Amino acid sequence: MTFPKINPTQTQAWAALQLHFEQLKAEHLVDLFQQQSTRAHDMSLQWEDFYLDYSKNRIDKETLSLLFQLAEECHLPDAIKAQFSLEKINETEHRAVGHTALRNFEAMPKEVSETLEKMQFFSESVISGDWKGFTGKPIKTVVNIGIGGSDLGPDMVCEALKYYRNHLEVHFVSNVDGDHVMEVLKDLDPETTLFIIVSKSFTTQETLTNAATIRSWFLEQASEADIAKHFVAVSTNLDAVTEFGISSEQIFPMWDWVGGRFSLWSAVGLSIACAVGYVHFEALLRGAHAMDKHFKEAPAAQNMPIILGLLSVWYNNFFEAETECLVPYSQYLSKMVQYLQQAVMESNGKHIDRNGNPIPYQTGTVVWGSTGTNAQHAFFQLLHQGTKLIPTDFIAFSNSLHGQQEHQDKLLANFLAQTEALMEGTYQQDPTDAFKSFRGNQPTNSLIIEKLTPKNLGSLIALYEHKLFVQGVIWNIYSYDQWGVQLGKVVAKDTLQALQNQDPGELSNLSTQNLVKRIVD
Ligand code: F6P
Repeated sequence: MTFPKINPTQTQAWAALQLHFEQLKAEHLVDLFQQQSTRAHDMSLQWEDFYLDYSKNRIDKETLSLLFQLAEECHLPDAIKAQFSLEKINETEHRAVGHTALRNFEAMPKEVSETLEKMQFFSESVISGDWKGFTGKPIKTVVNIGIGGSDLGPDMVCEALKYYRNHLEVHFVSNVDGDHVMEVLKDLDPETTLFIIVSKSFTTQETLTNAATIRSWFLEQASEADIAKHFVAVSTNLDAVTEFGISSEQIFPMWDWVGGRFSLWSAVGLSIACAVGYVHFEALLRGAHAMDKHFKEAPAAQNMPIILGLLSVWYNNFFEAETECLVPYSQYLSKMVQYLQQAVMESNGKHIDRNGNPIPYQTGTVVWGSTGTNAQHAFFQLLHQGTKLIPTDFIAFSNSLHGQQEHQDKLLANFLAQTEALMEGTYQQDPTDAFKSFRGNQPTNSLIIEKLTPKNLGSLIALYEHKLFVQGVIWNIYSYDQWGVQLGKVVAKDTLQALQNQDPGELSNLSTQNLVKRIVD
């Protein structure tokens, strides 16, 4: 089966959606609710612990059926099948896309289950204190050295699962900014710290620079022979890791069929397994797998990732909304937006289609947001009274982890009130003061999840992974490559040389030359 390569704008559904949009664009959500009294029920979905209410979107039944038709005409079902059967759907890199295989306990590749066993053994011995540092002391601190997908996923999950954490302290060093690594190192004890160097390629400048700095810092107090007790690596590039001084037993493999931004489910998640214990890490994987099954098996009209993906296409390509906002009403999810920015924007920020042609329509949305209720006191003014249309996902858990019912009631009341106010505005009232009027009609999805458990977190992340895949299929782009990050890396090489040589004259770009002069003079 070849991966579909259909220009969505050439489909019948697209043309019909354009006509339909002209009829619907001026409709107010309040009227849509009045026309369809069962709307809240009709446009909502229960799946396991997840309840998605998408009724506050600027759609009607026809919109949905045309969007489903668009998905059919773009061969979304074939694309889903191709991904799950590990075909090489990342055609520009000639790779399969297998992050879902990492969590498929029903049919797990042997190399994956062996790696999970190795992760379990390792993380349990670090947590129990059986794993000793070079002076015989147990490990107290774990430091993940990585960037992009080798940092954001584990960092986000460790924060999200803080409630389930054990005694180990976990830090993340990512930026090549030396102040980042030094701020982390200044409080660390080399005798009780374990460093996990995570780099799929093991060529990433930031990670290798940080790893080398940390290694030198470590060797100020320990010997080369002690490295084995304090450094492990996660990579596909075994030669480069060995050259760095880490022996093969200390290397956790990953595979080229797992994209960096989808890799927290692999050994890239070793810091997660250490922080919360392997049992919780496995629950996270199982939760993601449950969502995979839902995505693969549920009909489009009951399929959460498909519905979210198609709604996003609707706003992006018909309402011409440029951004999408995400507001989790949980402080535990404070790193989720940053994580999704990489997942979504590195995947779908593409301007060439799968046939190699420039794309005349809009693709990847800008993803931004922050936690509620804090965001209400920051950027919500613009959501309510700005000039832009910003579809927003609200996410909350019905139950808090620490109890504190009064807080929880206030948290959820804010969540509910905001989506209501965004929808209704001051509609049908007679605002005496224009500055105090709210136009309403601002679309939101409400995702209410029973409780923040490792399993539910896994399902939630997988939900957004599949949503972005749906978007990419419709936009006819390759979501799983990231050629766009290469150019900056290449240019940085010459710039670095000019900085190190203190010789701006080596540079051809006159603006960079001028800036380098300012820095080195
Ligand atoms: O620069 C982008 C990128 O390639 C991401 O896709 C990836 O997650 C990150 O760099 C880190 O790459 P690596 O794990 O190979 O160090």
